Amino acid sequence: MHFHELLAAGLAILGTVEAIPAVPNPTGINTFTNATVYQPSNNRSSVSYVRTETLPDNALLATWNAFGSGSGSLPIYRSEDNGLTWSPWGSCKSDVPGRQLVQPHMLYLKEGFGEEEGGVLLLAVNAVDNTSTNMEVYASWDQGHSFNFVSRVAEGGRANTKNGATPVWEPFLLKHGDKLTVYYSDQRDPKHGQKLVQQTTQGGFDSWGDVVDVIASEIYEDRPGMLIATKLPNGQYLMVFEYAMIANQALGEYKYPIYYKLSFDPENANSEPWHRLVVNVGTQPNGGPYVTWSPVGGPNGTIIVSDSDNNPIWINQALGEGTWKEVQTPHGHAYSREVRVPVNDGTKIRIAGGAPYGAPPPGLVQVSVMDLRKALEI
Ligand SMILES: *[C@@H]1O[C@H](CO)[C@@H](O)[C@H](O)[C@H]1NC(C)=O
Ligand SMILES: *[C@@H]1O[C@H](CO)[C@@H](O)[C@H](O)[C@H]1NC(C)=O
Ligand SMILES: *[C@@H]1O[C@H](CO)[C@@H](O)[C@H](O)[C@H]1NC(C)=O
Ligand SMILES: *[C@@H]1O[C@H](CO)[C@@H](O)[C@H](O)[C@H]1NC(C)=O
Repeated sequence: MHFHELLAAGLAILGTVEAIPAVPNPTGINTFTNATVYQPSNNRSSVSYVRTETLPDNALLATWNAFGSGSGSLPIYRSEDNGLTWSPWGSCKSDVPGRQLVQPHMLYLKEGFGEEEGGVLLLAVNAVDNTSTNMEVYASWDQGHSFNFVSRVAEGGRANTKNGATPVWEPFLLKHGDKLTVYYSDQRDPKHGQKLVQQTTQGGFDSWGDVVDVIASEIYEDRPGMLIATKLPNGQYLMVFEYAMIANQALGEYKYPIYYKLSFDPENANSEPWHRLVVNVGTQPNGGPYVTWSPVGGPNGTIIVSDSDNNPIWINQALGEGTWKEVQTPHGHAYSREVRVPVNDGTKIRIAGGAPYGAPPPGLVQVSVMDLRKALEI
């Protein structure tokens, strides 16, 4: 991952909302392009790494990295019309002074989990300060309005992407049966510049097991990272990640091609082979991928991947086998751009992103909804 934006410091003051309004339950949703979720009011802050999650009443929440916002909080915005219009809704803040929350991922659990009650919105973050990075989980029992700290899964050294430094990065939560797993990028193992690992809990949100490798290269300088997983209709999980490798040894420059693993057993994917994501028209996907699955497109449905550097998405209708087909989108590329299928309309794709990697602040948090069936006809 790239983290030079981190050390900047003013967050928009978030409004508070007292009652939770009901949201209509549409059976299908409309398409739109570049709806604005949020734009910083000054050039000190920068927005990227947008994540969304849907609540049972179809309210849509969004959060993102707010570098330079000053408050250290993660903003939570809410849409009652499937992402077309947005308002401030809540926030999540660390109890530890000086800690900023970044790299969010939200997961709503409808059912209870072990001894924990259902109806909870989990938020995994990287809590960073001048001396440490921390994989932390927060929970909201009021639909994302307020959050409580629930557990610290892992602690690493100060944010620093140099090999030999010891931070942890980019948590992703996956519930699989009675297990909850957090995947993250880990620089603490002296045998690897960076590797991808996981920790799993059962019965509660605070009994995380040992650190288990998911993707670790034999080449020290390799830096696999930024894992996102989705479930396929055959029961397999597709785990997509960037496989950072040296592009220019002399300059120490990296490239970030996209790879994936397939596994029926997402807690034990270490021995599964890696697959390069190969695109039919020769595009080289690069950096910060996201994956989702849609029921549209035949018996296997359609797997959809976005990266950080390209406007199109790539689709695969053979459960991850073979090459991937490029499909144009109306949405601009963005660092760690999210693609998801709206829970209330499986024929659409929602794309959410902020600034492209390395773009000057402030950037803009935007959401688009496109029609997958129409896109596939072309
Ligand atoms: C931000 O920077 C751009 C040019 O880089 C400038 O046009 C704009 O006025 C600046 N905005 C603020 C709020 O300072
Ligand atoms: C962290 O470092 C920044 C910049 O070096 C400094 O301004 C700030 O006071 C430090 N914060 C703490 C809690 O040490
Ligand atoms: C579904 O996926 C399987 C396994 O990759 C593949 O053999 C088959 O051709 C796919 N079906 C269609 C209709 O694409
Ligand atoms: C949406 O934004 C992208 C760039 O972020 C731009 O290329 C595209 O033209 C915009 N589309 C519309 C319909 O505004």
